[in-house]
Amino acid sequence: MDSSSFMPMMPSIKESLEIKYMKNEFPIWTGGLHRILCMQGGDDDVSYAKNSEGPASAITLSKSLLIEGIKFMKLFGEEESLSVADLGCATGYNTLATIDLVVDNLRRRYNMECGFEPDFEAFFSDLPSNDFNSLFRSPPFTEHSKKRRYYAAGVPGSFYHRLFAKEKLHVAVSLSALHWLSQIPETVLDKKSPAWNEGRAWIDGAKKEVVEAYAKQSKDDLEAFLQCRKVEIKRGGMLFILMAGRPGSNRPESQLGDPDSRAKHPFTSSMDQAWEDLLNEGLIDKITRDTFNIPAYMRNIDEVQKAFEQCGGFEIKRLEYQRLVEHSKEKQEEWIRDPVSYGRAKANIVRATLKPIVEAHVGTEISEELFKRFQNRASGDIAMLHKTCFYGVIVVCAIRK
Ligand SMILES: C[S@@+](CC[C@H](N)C(=O)[O-])C[C@H]1O[C@@H](n2cnc3c(N)ncnc32)[C@H](O)[C@@H]1O
Repeated sequence: MDSSSFMPMMPSIKESLEIKYMKNEFPIWTGGLHRILCMQGGDDDVSYAKNSEGPASAITLSKSLLIEGIKFMKLFGEEESLSVADLGCATGYNTLATIDLVVDNLRRRYNMECGFEPDFEAFFSDLPSNDFNSLFRSPPFTEHSKKRRYYAAGVPGSFYHRLFAKEKLHVAVSLSALHWLSQIPETVLDKKSPAWNEGRAWIDGAKKEVVEAYAKQSKDDLEAFLQCRKVEIKRGGMLFILMAGRPGSNRPESQLGDPDSRAKHPFTSSMDQAWEDLLNEGLIDKITRDTFNIPAYMRNIDEVQKAFEQCGGFEIKRLEYQRLVEHSKEKQEEWIRDPVSYGRAKANIVRATLKPIVEAHVGTEISEELFKRFQNRASGDIAMLHKTCFYGVIVVCAIRK
């Protein structure tokens, strides 16, 4: 007898999902982001460490501003050690390069102006779900040189709360992180509310009520962040922020500059189409699609300035919007020759940033199906592939008064 006849029949993805729905194994996910949101850990092809080209070019762009900010800082000649924190550090090259940059430039200033080198403590801070293991397994922490550049520690927690003792920090840096909100506004998750975000995963082009709810959340979050840092940073110390942002003249419903960038951004068209595909194929129901929202908001300069004014205690030295090209010309030409690899690259970026929250919403299997649909949609949009798009960032350098 054929032995395979004893094998149990494997249910199809759709059948196994129906079973999970019946058992109510997909409760609607309503937030609790601090427990879920994180970039994908490890160092494989879908990890944040391998998909952080965008934040890396943002950091390159802000490097000179960060060095300039260090020159504005007061030197604490009486103190033998200085504390530097990276808030929303994730894993990989970007955070290590940022801390190196700050420590090296401060060390140089101390040598030249004070004639001594203080010790440095570096705090790598992110949500508890961040892959701190991967971070602390990388070379600066595993290789022991005679002269340590800095003493390091991980600080788990949300930057929307206090993370350090009063006046502990001399420098706090937060790069490509503050556009992530602390939660999805409750009204956006309430089907009876006018802010119910039907058919969209994000707010670009969404209706007024949805956008207003996100804008209010963003305001409350940024104010909470600043209030905490005001207590933690010593007078004369520096707060440096780089976050995704929108041009000054754009209203909040237009989160991403020009229409092409809007259509091509990973949180917009392809994402909505991928959810729609899952719905049409019967893999999810409508409520599952409509309760998925991406907790990100791109502020403009005006909103950032108002939050600083509301908080007080900081002198803004620089506040500017800068525009970044999404990728190099060579990369674009390579992708035009091979649209499938383009779709894969885009899907990997989305996996690296959104996988934990998509999994929390629909489970591992459906999450993978969503990313496959996203990949197909992105590689199928050949016209978009030919367009060069731009993303914006806001850079702020402020000194604690
Ligand atoms: C796009 S990554 C940027 C990482 C790194 N700074 C860089 O430039 O490559 C955003 C990081 O912000 C973190 N993050 C988001 N919300 C946060 C919060 N409320 N508190 C602390 N970290 C947060 C995420 O977990 C993620 O690691």
